[in-house]
Amino acid sequence: MSAAPRAGNGKITVPDILSRKSQSLSDFGETKRKITCLTAYDYPTARLLDDAGVDILLVGDSLGMVVLGYDSTLPVTLDEMVHHTRAVRRATRRALLVADMPYGSFHVSLDESVRNAVRLVKEGGAEAVKVEGGERRIELIARLVEAEIPVMGHVGLTPQSINALGGFHVQGKSADAARQLERDARAVEVAGAFAVVLESMPRDLAARITEKLRIPTVGIGAGPDCDGQVLVFHDLVGLTAGHTPKFARQYANLSAEITRAASEFCGDVRSGRFPSDAESFHSAAELREHLPLSERA
Ligand code: KIV
Repeated sequence: MSAAPRAGNGKITVPDILSRKSQSLSDFGETKRKITCLTAYDYPTARLLDDAGVDILLVGDSLGMVVLGYDSTLPVTLDEMVHHTRAVRRATRRALLVADMPYGSFHVSLDESVRNAVRLVKEGGAEAVKVEGGERRIELIARLVEAEIPVMGHVGLTPQSINALGGFHVQGKSADAARQLERDARAVEVAGAFAVVLESMPRDLAARITEKLRIPTVGIGAGPDCDGQVLVFHDLVGLTAGHTPKFARQYANLSAEITRAASEFCGDVRSGRFPSDAESFHSAAELREHLPLSERA
């Protein structure tokens, strides 16, 4: 279950993502080529997002909340992440496939953490893993990189720290907290990560971090100055039940569309409008003549 990147066929690779940092404005006319990233958890969605030209498909542990119905990301298991990464892998041709290391899978010994990340690559087909946390992850990130596993960092609001943070709040609002986030992002870079997610922080802080780092930043709730943007797919298409954060721009309302289709189906079945004769199979004419109605299936 692996996808060997072949240069020149449009496949997005880790070096491609890194190179976005150094592309000058003039390389792409008016605007710098920003990195696009969306979460994906299954085959049909991944196929559509890959065809749409999204650069990075992230099998996020948001899986737990938007697909599996948990009330946080904490219960998500490594087996669940491997299972969903495999499905996304089968559909992904062009995008870089990154899988989240779920809570508990890297809060163990370094050896076991590396073994867990290797499962996401070997069994899941991920091309990189994402790890939440800054300075505390220096050793882990370095070990993963040494094991040939590219790492995307994630600092700011890290949902796996929800109990310690006390809720989903914007991070880095005091001077001390902002300085800590700058140190976290820098630590992730020094440890060898190829990119870092900046989640829920003031836009000016994200802009400062983006300017200082040599690796690209991918923002979510971190303003427009990051090198790229990531959103949770279910927020993007209006499939998230309940509250969505203010940064989660909704581009479609699939909830309404799915509810409409399902209730129309129910109405048609109950009224006898579905299936129609045109949607039914028919016996050959000779068989119809010789088989009385009651004997036909
Ligand atoms: O799990 C996830 O989907 C994430 C993104 C929101 C960055 O970590």
